Amino acid sequence: MSATETVLITGASSGIGLELAKCFAKDGSRLILVARNTDALEKLAEELRRENKIEAIVLTADLSQPETPKRIFDELSARKTVVNVLVNNAGFGAIGSFDELPRERQLEMIQVNVTALTDLTRLFLPGMIERHRGGILNVASVAGFVTGPGMAVYYATKAFVLSFTEAIAAETRNTGIYVSTLCPGPTPTNFGAVAGSKNVKLIRVSRTSVQKVARDGHKAFRYHHVVCISGFQNKFLVLLIRLAPRWLIRRIVLKFNGFPRR
Ligand SMILES: NC(=O)c1ccc[n+]([C@@H]2O[C@H](COP(=O)([O-])OP(=O)(O)OC[C@H]3O[C@@H](n4cnc5c(N)ncnc54)[C@H](OP(=O)(O)O)[C@@H]3O)[C@@H](O)[C@H]2O)c1
Repeated sequence: MSATETVLITGASSGIGLELAKCFAKDGSRLILVARNTDALEKLAEELRRENKIEAIVLTADLSQPETPKRIFDELSARKTVVNVLVNNAGFGAIGSFDELPRERQLEMIQVNVTALTDLTRLFLPGMIERHRGGILNVASVAGFVTGPGMAVYYATKAFVLSFTEAIAAETRNTGIYVSTLCPGPTPTNFGAVAGSKNVKLIRVSRTSVQKVARDGHKAFRYHHVVCISGFQNKFLVLLIRLAPRWLIRRIVLKFNGFPRR
């Protein structure tokens, strides 16, 4: 892909999204950085402009608001900005039993992790197909391969992202655009703190650095791999998950997520 492509990255203010922004900046891509934390985005944009001589635009947006994806699309269309690559990375989790976690927080999670990702994909994909150029990188998780007692809604949102992205990748085959999904395992970012992770072994045992996760996702997208599981340990884990009976997976994940409490 040419160096003049424009890449929109959601959740670029920290963690995996921030590191993905650095990877695309090294390619010479023009970046549109989206998240709620304007200061963090401005700081990153400044650094990327200075170090890579690229254009980096900050777009403050709250993806938990249903109208946000369309607002972003309309704003960029009005500026005649063509988005070649969409990176749907923004997301968060919440740890606890489904019946006890706040209802609003769980609905917000579905809005950010699933609905906004789907809406942004639907808004930007037709233009990409028309131009026979570009693609989408969606950030799912190893959690997408299993059921997640103790983080029930989060794991389900990631199962959606994984299934949805694979389907879109198959539908867009031979259109000249590429669709990939990055499946990180536990990675040291703000994710654990946001999710409330004190007792969660799976998050505490994280081994893959956030830089490596981002590099793997970026490389998978560039090489047109549909599913990228970052890290050998995580690839092995997914293999075991495929072989193990579902009742056993439920028990293991429940234990790793700090349960049972009752
Ligand atoms: N870390 C892990 O162990 C792990 C493992 C597998 C998958 N993942 C996935 O990786 C992705 C990135 O997470 P991370 O680990 O890098 O965590 P992080 O450091 O907490 O980053 C999350 C990003 O999402 C953005 N975000 C959250 N809510 C948002 C909202 N309402 N509107 C707009 N942006 C929002 C945050 O920006 P603002 O707060 O500035 O809005 C931030 O930039 C997520 O989809 C997560 O599910 C993480």
